[in-house]
Amino acid sequence: MTEKILVTGGAGYIGSHTAIKLIEAGYQIVIADDLSNASPRAIDAIAEITGTKPEFVEINLTDNAAVGQLFSEHTFAAVIHFAGFKAVGESVQLPLKYYRNNLDSTINLLQAMEAHGVKDFVFSSSATVYGVPSEIPLKETSNIGAVNPYGKTKEMIESICFDLASSDASWNISLLRYFNPVGAHPSGKIGEDPTGIPNNLVPFVMQVAVGRRDSVQIFGGDWDTSDGTGVRDYIHVEDLAEGHLKALEHLKPGCSAYNLGTGQGYSVLEVVAAASKASGVEIPHEIVARRSGDIATSLADPTLANAALDWKAEKNLLEMMQDSWRWQSSNPNGFS
Ligand code: UFG
Repeated sequence: MTEKILVTGGAGYIGSHTAIKLIEAGYQIVIADDLSNASPRAIDAIAEITGTKPEFVEINLTDNAAVGQLFSEHTFAAVIHFAGFKAVGESVQLPLKYYRNNLDSTINLLQAMEAHGVKDFVFSSSATVYGVPSEIPLKETSNIGAVNPYGKTKEMIESICFDLASSDASWNISLLRYFNPVGAHPSGKIGEDPTGIPNNLVPFVMQVAVGRRDSVQIFGGDWDTSDGTGVRDYIHVEDLAEGHLKALEHLKPGCSAYNLGTGQGYSVLEVVAAASKASGVEIPHEIVARRSGDIATSLADPTLANAALDWKAEKNLLEMMQDSWRWQSSNPNGFS
């Protein structure tokens, strides 16, 4: 049996873009996804873009027996684990749903890996683990302290990984702390496809630009930033996907966390302006009250990933918006 890379959540937004990079780099992959927040059309699009149809297993990773079966049927060299619930607001309403799903699925996966001697693991973490930033830019050594159940699941899984690596020196684990992923594959065939009203800024802005919604509500104009609107470190999903490839190639003994961001911050108003430029559409927007749980600024110090993973984000804000717009305008209703 050929050794394969298991990509959990590979039909989702970041997973599907990473799947393409892996196939293009010559890896054989198996995508495992329960399609609870992803479309099977993403798998078709991956095949169309790469010319290779990835193996796909529809599986819920909280089903321990099914995970065991997955590992008996394939020989995996490594696992990249994207699968998980990710809506901050829902996690506050339904914490048990988030703890049950995100923790059980990861523990099942790690136990199956251990049982089958698969010790190379790349995990989708998030800058959300830093909670309210103790310093800007954020370094991997900055204080950790997630402030919502979703973020706490990421923080807990990071702890599990650190403990596992200390208990057994044969594990090679990278925790990738993403900042704000945006953009889409340049083909316009895959992209972010949120269900319902988008929580995140860029999908919302794009739905306004394409005419699905009336106006962007900007959450607060009185933050302590250059123009009073929130500042974030937006990173193109293509750069992020490349970061996973590099993380896989640079895995080393132990457990290491890396910030994946650009180190450059943009305000909400700058994002709206870049989206208008990319789409050619004047995007209506209004400043409203702050959203609870938000912070003024989130910014990565990406120097550790730059050096240790030989990786650097290359794409600028306008490229991010152009690619998001190509996806949104050619698929106004996403995959559906
Ligand atoms: N914003 C608006 N209007 C909107 C949506 C967002 O003004 O309709 C603003 C927010 O207030 C913030 C910025 O746009 O200043 C970015 O907001 P997002 O919701 O796009 O992103 P967040 O930084 O809040 O959240 C992201 C991820 C989360 C993660 C969090 C912390 O989406 O998964 O970073 O790392 F938890």
